[in-house]
Amino acid sequence: MTSKRFVIIDGNELSFEEGETILQAARRAEIEIPTLCHDDRLTPAGACRICLVEVEGANLMQPACATRVSPNMVVRPPTPRVTRNRQFTLSLHLADTIQDRALAEDSNPSRLHDLAERYGTAGQWVPVDSPRPGRPSDDNPYIQFRPDRCIACSLCTRYCDQIEAVSAITLAFKGAKTTISTADERSLTETTCELCGGCIDVCPTGAMTEKAALAWGKPEMDLEKVRTTCNFCGVGCQVDLNVDRAANRVVKVTSPPPGTTVNDGNLCVKGRFANDFIHHPDRLQDPLVRNEAGELVATSWDEALDRVSKALLSVADEHGNDALAFISSSRCTGEENYLMQKLARAGFQTHNVHQCAAT
Ligand code: SF4
Ligand code: SF4
Ligand code: FES
Repeated sequence: MTSKRFVIIDGNELSFEEGETILQAARRAEIEIPTLCHDDRLTPAGACRICLVEVEGANLMQPACATRVSPNMVVRPPTPRVTRNRQFTLSLHLADTIQDRALAEDSNPSRLHDLAERYGTAGQWVPVDSPRPGRPSDDNPYIQFRPDRCIACSLCTRYCDQIEAVSAITLAFKGAKTTISTADERSLTETTCELCGGCIDVCPTGAMTEKAALAWGKPEMDLEKVRTTCNFCGVGCQVDLNVDRAANRVVKVTSPPPGTTVNDGNLCVKGRFANDFIHHPDRLQDPLVRNEAGELVATSWDEALDRVSKALLSVADEHGNDALAFISSSRCTGEENYLMQKLARAGFQTHNVHQCAAT
């Protein structure tokens, strides 16, 4: 007789796929189990112990993120023991980082504080003595590691290994001294690090943070996110510009959450950090046209577009439509490239249209 392939979670009988974890089966059924060190893109580490659940027949509670379901397994609804353990663990993690939420969120939001607020704690405890060494001589221009905020969840090192595939950072030392380090404690720029900033993005406590945004001094929650398409290459990653409205300035760039856009929560060094150009004084603010003396002068968009359309029409009238050619760029969006070919083909009936990604 074959056993039925189902699991019972919180009283719900659920089918499951081979290899699924309790967390995956629960989430498919919209059963909430809180997590801190889990990321769907990474292999589970079972490091934070926030997701512990009670499984019938097991003496010890099991991490939902790392325990595979098996036929006829019964995962109990949240019991007082599970709730007590979660609150205890949250207090323990908070004692190992910055307990004051406002201070903890001086730059990045803290998922740890979010969880503590949502699920409660076992009270504020005396700070844990965890002398994690930092890398004060790491002079890379972008990423700051603040060891007093690290809870050794290993999200950053797993991201660096498994998503970025460069293994520039690693867990180092033991016990309370466990920290995030590099080979010979070198600066990130002397390692295989690609400065993608993904370690900042996954860090749940703000231990990994962005130097320039930290220096700007406004927490991320006080910035307004404006979704746009990165224009550094043709991939079309979606980015969130984090704008300080009062100063009219883009302070930093973050990725939309994993699973929501084409870049799945990832960015490259340019997309994440190369945003100084937005406020560079040399940047053109207005279109330029030539005056009668041949000098470039600023004008309005209406005037500039009028000049362009007249010039295009006069070439077409005098030499025919195929005397015109339209060149676009892979740095433009798909929509902009579509409009360029539409202008060529529908507007001027010519197929003389090209774009650098086409070769
Ligand atoms: S910036 Fe990217 S490559 Fe460098 S340590 Fe962080 S995750 Fe690894
Ligand atoms: S730096 Fe952040 S992501 Fe990395 S182990 Fe520490 S708390 Fe976790
Ligand atoms: S989320 Fe499962 S142990 Fe951290």
